[in-house]
Amino acid sequence: MKEVNKEGLYIQLFSVHGLIRGTSPELGRDADTGGQVKYVLELAKALGEHVEVDQVDLITRLINDPAVAPDYAVPIEPLSEHARIVRLGCGGKKYRRKELLWPHLEQFIDNAIRFINSQQRVPDIFHGHYADAGYVAMRLSEAFDGHFVFTGHSLGRNKKEKLLRDGLSESRIDRQYRINHRISVEEKIIDRAELIITSTRQEIDEQYGLYKHGKHNRFTVIPPGIDLQTFYPYYDPQLDGELFNEEVKQTRHTLLRELHRFWTAPEKPFILALCRPDHRKNITGLIEAYGTSPELQKIANLAIFAGIRKDISAMEDNEQAVLTDMLLQMDRYDLYGKLAIPKHHDFSTEVPELYRICAESQGVFVNPALIEPFGLTLIEASASGLPIVATSSGGPVDIVGNCENGILVEASDPENIARAILTILIDEPLWSNFSNNGIKGVRTHYSWQSHSMKTLQQFNRIMPKRDLEPAETTQRMQELPSPSYGSRLTKVDHLMITDIDNTLVGDDQSMRELFWILRERRDELVWGVATGRSLELTLDAMTVHNFPMPDILICSVGTEIYYGPDLRRDRSWEQHITYQWKPEAIKEVLNSFAFLVFQEAEGQRSHKISYYLEEKEDRLKSIQDRLKQRKLRCRTIYSHGQFLDILPIRASKGKAIEYILNKFDFSPLKVMVAGDSGNDEDMLDSAARGLVVGNHSEELEKLRRKQNIYFSSSDYAAGIIDGLKHYGFLGS
Ligand code: GLC
Ligand code: MG
Repeated sequence: MKEVNKEGLYIQLFSVHGLIRGTSPELGRDADTGGQVKYVLELAKALGEHVEVDQVDLITRLINDPAVAPDYAVPIEPLSEHARIVRLGCGGKKYRRKELLWPHLEQFIDNAIRFINSQQRVPDIFHGHYADAGYVAMRLSEAFDGHFVFTGHSLGRNKKEKLLRDGLSESRIDRQYRINHRISVEEKIIDRAELIITSTRQEIDEQYGLYKHGKHNRFTVIPPGIDLQTFYPYYDPQLDGELFNEEVKQTRHTLLRELHRFWTAPEKPFILALCRPDHRKNITGLIEAYGTSPELQKIANLAIFAGIRKDISAMEDNEQAVLTDMLLQMDRYDLYGKLAIPKHHDFSTEVPELYRICAESQGVFVNPALIEPFGLTLIEASASGLPIVATSSGGPVDIVGNCENGILVEASDPENIARAILTILIDEPLWSNFSNNGIKGVRTHYSWQSHSMKTLQQFNRIMPKRDLEPAETTQRMQELPSPSYGSRLTKVDHLMITDIDNTLVGDDQSMRELFWILRERRDELVWGVATGRSLELTLDAMTVHNFPMPDILICSVGTEIYYGPDLRRDRSWEQHITYQWKPEAIKEVLNSFAFLVFQEAEGQRSHKISYYLEEKEDRLKSIQDRLKQRKLRCRTIYSHGQFLDILPIRASKGKAIEYILNKFDFSPLKVMVAGDSGNDEDMLDSAARGLVVGNHSEELEKLRRKQNIYFSSSDYAAGIIDGLKHYGFLGS
């Protein structure tokens, strides 16, 4: 058994799409590299700093594509002593937009299972970010019996509504954004998550509120933190000269030169706004406020940084309209020499410096948006020491409420905006008070340390008590239901898989003895069945013969894999074997063979078509020839002189076992496979430890010359016990 260390928490954060790296993250490169990238990186680092936490893995997609930096192809990147980025492949090497990753998530989950399996212990918390990674974390938490936490970042229903309002058709939206799939996955996630973290209260009411399961009480508001190493107060460099390194000086120089190109009196304080060129940000409202207030124009300049622009005429309609308006307003109010509208800025290095330059000038930061769900820039500006003016609708209410560092306004009224700015600019003590309050308030309410503290408090709330005495622990273990399949299959290293009919079942006394052994050896040996029966018929057999629950059920001749005790289907296997599977076409072709008799409904499964066939006159061969001729790739298995099963080319009992060995990293020498008849041949043949029971049918005689197969002289389950002893699976 692998060692389990129960000291501190092991947390896995999942953020599948986009580009994530520890140093100079490429924020804003495209739609998939926005705030979430920064959020998960900061969260991973802050959680890793905490004494209660042993390890944090931030798990994302591995991308090995010349179109992006080679950093994203590195499997493991340390972030700090206890935090690292782990990259796992899925859906090829290319960088792909998130909407195209949905079909590849099962592969991601499989690789995560393999990764967890290679670690010393199983994670306690699986925390998914955004719907795709939420799905991954949900599945893994089920597999490993961990706690499932979700942070949505944004939700599909709201996006769909917005796109519909923008005039896009339902079908277009679904094609481009796979929005309906996303929404249905989100419904499941919201239903299952033990804890959902949001940035604001508004998100719970107006976004999650649109979901069927969105009204439970498993939500908690924890505003994201900001990076205080980057957004430090404007006075720090004055007190600590080392902060003024060459790079900082160059950045400041570039910014000042840029601003001074616009202003005739650069020594005045300035009013700063920073946002995307989007009409909802109400930039025009701010320019109007400034343009219509002679007092404001007299005492301060205005600087608006509205994204990066190249050629306005080549930009998107919305952006184009906003930028054109800005230029027209500059002209209308004659703001030449007072209004700066720089063409570009670098978010990661220039923005923090810009806030500080503005604070040094004794300026004010304004977010003129009519509604602001959160207001990250307001927090960053506050941390730098800038008093703020923002809308009284949404996130700013919390910020000003927490920090008391600015004035809330009716943003649709330019006069209201102008008055607030003026109030702060002309009152020196008020300015200092707001500035100091902002710097202190952000530390208490919006640092990643405080975010991670609150997050840990929530994790602890949903976790069972961890600091138990050893005796108490064993007692608890016995009361608990058997651990999840993922933990068992990765922790225990011996595996036995047996056929049901005429192998496991046939002699009651030895079967009971085998079940007793399996129970005794629970911690060293996992076991499963592999059968031609459907899941329902397998469960019937289990009831009739009173089986304990197997860890693995391979049903319908290897086309379906389930894990006990709650019979969770392996979706990844299902997806894997769907390759080139065309059941309708196969049935149509085989319809013409009058001698084929369709089996009853239980025999027909999504990945298995079954007939009765009396083999004579090369009937089987003519069936295979016809299928080949029609280029229908599939596998035909004939058994017991009467059953014909048609399966996908990738499926069989043996293939299913191979897949499980690989997925849970079992060493072949520690896996024994038992069978009695022709339809077990493929799995016996592929196993390193095969076992044939004494009562086997004639057709297996040919396996006698195989080194890897042991022929027991005992019948049924007694043969299985004999095999387990023979291979040393029952200890010495
Ligand atoms: C079981 C199944 C049947 C299948 C046969 C051989 O009897 O119920 O559908 O054809 O096994 O695999
Ligand atoms: Mg059998």
